[in-house]
Amino acid sequence: MIVAGVMSGTSADGVDVALVRLTGQGLRTRFELIRHRSFSYPAAVRETVLQAMNAPAIAVSELARLNFRLAEIYADCVRRTVRLAQVECDLVGCHGQTLYHQGARSTFLGKKIACTWQIGDGSVLAGRLGVPVVSDFRPADMAVGGLGAPLVPYLDMLVFRHAKRGRIVQNIGGIGNLTAIPAGAQATEVRAFDTGPGNMVMDAICETLFGKPFDGRGSLAAKGTVLDAIVTEQMKLPFFHRSGPRTAGREEFGREYVTEFLRHCGSAPKHDILATATALTARSIGDAIRRLSKHNLYNDLFVSGGGTQNLTLMKMLREEVNALGIKVLPTDAVGVPSQAKEAIAFALLAYQTWHRKASNVPKATGARREAILGKVSYV
Ligand SMILES: Nc1ncnc2c1ncn2[C@@H]1O[C@H](COP(=O)(O)OP(=O)(O)O)[C@@H](O)[C@H]1O
Ligand SMILES: [Mg+2]
Repeated sequence: MIVAGVMSGTSADGVDVALVRLTGQGLRTRFELIRHRSFSYPAAVRETVLQAMNAPAIAVSELARLNFRLAEIYADCVRRTVRLAQVECDLVGCHGQTLYHQGARSTFLGKKIACTWQIGDGSVLAGRLGVPVVSDFRPADMAVGGLGAPLVPYLDMLVFRHAKRGRIVQNIGGIGNLTAIPAGAQATEVRAFDTGPGNMVMDAICETLFGKPFDGRGSLAAKGTVLDAIVTEQMKLPFFHRSGPRTAGREEFGREYVTEFLRHCGSAPKHDILATATALTARSIGDAIRRLSKHNLYNDLFVSGGGTQNLTLMKMLREEVNALGIKVLPTDAVGVPSQAKEAIAFALLAYQTWHRKASNVPKATGARREAILGKVSYV
């Protein structure tokens, strides 16, 4: 079966499509990447998406329109990838664009709830492409008590589990998240959680201070000096000290956080501020790994996501973990292109759902049990 995985992360930079050939089932599924393509959102779309995520108030009509409009964009991206690869796809797995994610339960209208919301309507996408679509993956995990994230550990287990080597798999998208797989681990021994900001804080600071959407190759941060006291201070945030499953998003590290961060930095040179935000991402990942390493031996750190293209960040990350005897490698080293990994994961999850197989990892999300993820839109 050929499945198109469609990912659009919290960076709101655009859409990744991975065309994947899948065989077998459950944890014995095998896959082969046929083609991967990244598409940037047109500037006006990105702006609207960011507004919808950050605005304290936005018209419901605008959200409804965006839900349908994004589905058209996803359809276009899939169509172009399929045409390029000259294959037909049988199924689509579409993550959608997260507008809001609240993993922790809090009281609303007299009852404690957690909730999440990804848009880009599955029926519209199925209608445009003429193939079934699995979308809206996160609520099924939350319905059984999970945080709804992270969902990528299922792929990580499939790809990175090793009999003799302990491995950590870190994605650096808008948010950073890791999966830790001890040597010879069973599914119940795998741990996964969000490490904190990935590119999100760096991107926002780059936009505010330099008028650029991101720090290309990390060259601006490379010119600055890290304000160590600020990194140490920021690492005291309760989020970084929560153990067990934890999830973050724009709710934790979005616009409000960045305003606070900039206030702390005061009148420091702008290159130093960006270098400091870069160091915060590296330190928060390093800290998480140091804590994991107290209980298990890890040999390799595999990294993926847009953050791997930031050379200053990668240098800082290497300095954080090399002291632990851990080798840093891109996921490309095991045949998973680092920018395609999350899109591949949603092709895999859709494939499991299509076969009525569960694909959350309860140890990672905190769910009470396994769940079949997503909603199917038939054609
Ligand atoms: N050439 C580059 N140099 C530095 N950073 C980059 C580069 N290309 C992409 N990025 C970073 O990667 C981010 C997108 O990463 P991605 O993995 O797509 O995240 P998400 O899953 O949140 O969409 C961008 O917002 C940017 O911060
Ligand atoms: Mg992206």
